[in-house]
Amino acid sequence: MQVVLLGAPGAGKGTQAEALSKHLNVPHIATGDLFRAARQSGTEIGNIAAGYMDRGELVPDEVVIRMLLERISQPDAQNGYLLDGFPRTLDQAKSLSDALDQNNSTLDAVLYLNVSNEELVTRLSGRWICRKCQAPYHATSAPPAKAGTCDRCSGELYQREDDQEETVRTRLGVFEKDTAPLIQYYTSQGILSEIPGEGDVKDIESKMISSLS
Ligand code: AP5
Repeated sequence: MQVVLLGAPGAGKGTQAEALSKHLNVPHIATGDLFRAARQSGTEIGNIAAGYMDRGELVPDEVVIRMLLERISQPDAQNGYLLDGFPRTLDQAKSLSDALDQNNSTLDAVLYLNVSNEELVTRLSGRWICRKCQAPYHATSAPPAKAGTCDRCSGELYQREDDQEETVRTRLGVFEKDTAPLIQYYTSQGILSEIPGEGDVKDIESKMISSLS
């Protein structure tokens, strides 16, 4: 099954992805995580992406598309995948659709997590992430058992550079301009389910899973 998680920065895509990918038994593929790993390793793609990410802008389509198509061609993605943070533009959506067509496959569902801008800013300004496994935490709504340490893998928690308020505002503007048109695009294809993304994490997870059945 091929599923896309759509939502603004901070909507909870990463938070929901772990349970959802387990439920679907497919890998969770997050383009933001791929870029952060590429930056850490100092690869060409990582170096290209760095400036865009720090400014809260989108990395150019040709770079993201190349990286994503390479990732979904890997053996672990042959029975499906859960995409988080891709597509973010109409051109990215069309490339994904072309790649699926070439494999006689289709996108099964798009789950759109809808969260207000005020809540998104609160979430991102308090977010901490595990450097090792990328698990997200929140200073007040989802704190780790031991401050600064990941509950899952004991990795070190850090705050993302692009979670500073000014960069968050830029990212939200980019979402409205470049990514929000995908809501209509996938609605018109009859594959989008809108899930209210505020409230209890487990309740949201149940709604997402129910929308897939
Ligand atoms: P990326 O890493 O994809 O960032 P994003 O989309 O901005 O999304 P986030 O990871 O910030 O948020 P999330 O929805 O996963 O929320 P989370 O679960 O962590 O992209 C980063 C950059 O990479 C982009 O700006 C761009 O430069 C580049 N990039 C990536 N993909 C690209 C593409 N396709 N094209 C071009 N450029 C690309 O939750 C957030 C916080 O809220 C956490 O603290 C969490 O604990 C808390 N939380 C979650 N759920 C709840 C809840 N129900 N109630 C209360 N708090 C909650």
